[in-house]
Amino acid sequence: MNYHNPVLLSESIAQLGINPSGVYIDATFGGGGHSREILKHLQNGHLYGFDQDDDARQNIPESANFTFVHHNFRYIRHFMRYYGVEQVDGILADLGVSSHHFDTPERGFSFRFNAPLDMRMDAETKLTAAEILNSYEESDLRRIFKEYGEIDNAYKLAQTIVRERGIAAIETTEELKKIGQRLCNPKIETKYVSQIFQALRIEVNNEMGVLRDFLQAGLETLKPGGRFVIITYHSLEDRMVKNFFKTGNLEGSVKKDFYGNVSTPFELVSRKAIVPTDEEIEENNRARSAKLRVAEKK
Ligand SMILES: C[S@@+](CC[C@H](N)C(=O)[O-])C[C@H]1O[C@@H](n2cnc3c(N)ncnc32)[C@H](O)[C@@H]1O
Repeated sequence: MNYHNPVLLSESIAQLGINPSGVYIDATFGGGGHSREILKHLQNGHLYGFDQDDDARQNIPESANFTFVHHNFRYIRHFMRYYGVEQVDGILADLGVSSHHFDTPERGFSFRFNAPLDMRMDAETKLTAAEILNSYEESDLRRIFKEYGEIDNAYKLAQTIVRERGIAAIETTEELKKIGQRLCNPKIETKYVSQIFQALRIEVNNEMGVLRDFLQAGLETLKPGGRFVIITYHSLEDRMVKNFFKTGNLEGSVKKDFYGNVSTPFELVSRKAIVPTDEEIEENNRARSAKLRVAEKK
């Protein structure tokens, strides 16, 4: 089974503007599709590929110019210092999970298979989707489904989950799928259940929290002139990246200097997000929600 098809491959690599002797970070190594492309452009440069999932090791390229780092990308600053690198020429991140996660039944990311509700990208962390479903307050479940799943009847869903878990703990993908199917119009069943699974996955892996840390760490790790290239798949992530690139802070509040000039740490390379072509979406359905944003550190 193919581990993952890289999304916006040529566009993202072009935006990195690779210097053959530069140092780069692929924060989300995965199947290594983006990394292999970066390596083609390097001569005596180096690429550090981060992935918190140990399964990604199977894709490590045989190259003296590559180092795999099995850690969360929120710690890139710390790990680059560990490798003796103070600043890098470019950072690429292609957020979220890989096809490998959805295609591996026992990881519990997909409702195509019946499996325990796990959804951890990093097997060394503790919180699973089952634990969230069976222990979170109803109000927290509602917030997760509304914010991360963009689910209209999040109130009813959270209420039903709390009622069901009072009868028996919700442990499997099949059990959760059945609850979802009861609460939506059959015409939108797949979309609705996908949204429930997406919301839980984002919470299990604290995807919004780690993105915040990563943006700040990335800014500190880039050289002046270095490029920050990020592909997102969720509107909340995209908004966070857009605000950060525009203002250098997560609130998106514009700061002005004494003379009233806007002061930001980045130059926006393109004002609008770059999106996949119709051909790419046709070939790879996962690309449909992708948005690529690029900023250059001043
Ligand atoms: C969309 S895939 C990247 C695919 C890759 N660009 C390719 O071409 O194969 C995202 C990968 O990043 C990893 N990942 C997600 N969040 C991470 C984080 N906070 N720290 C480290 N790795 C992360 C996932 O385990 C997954 O393998």
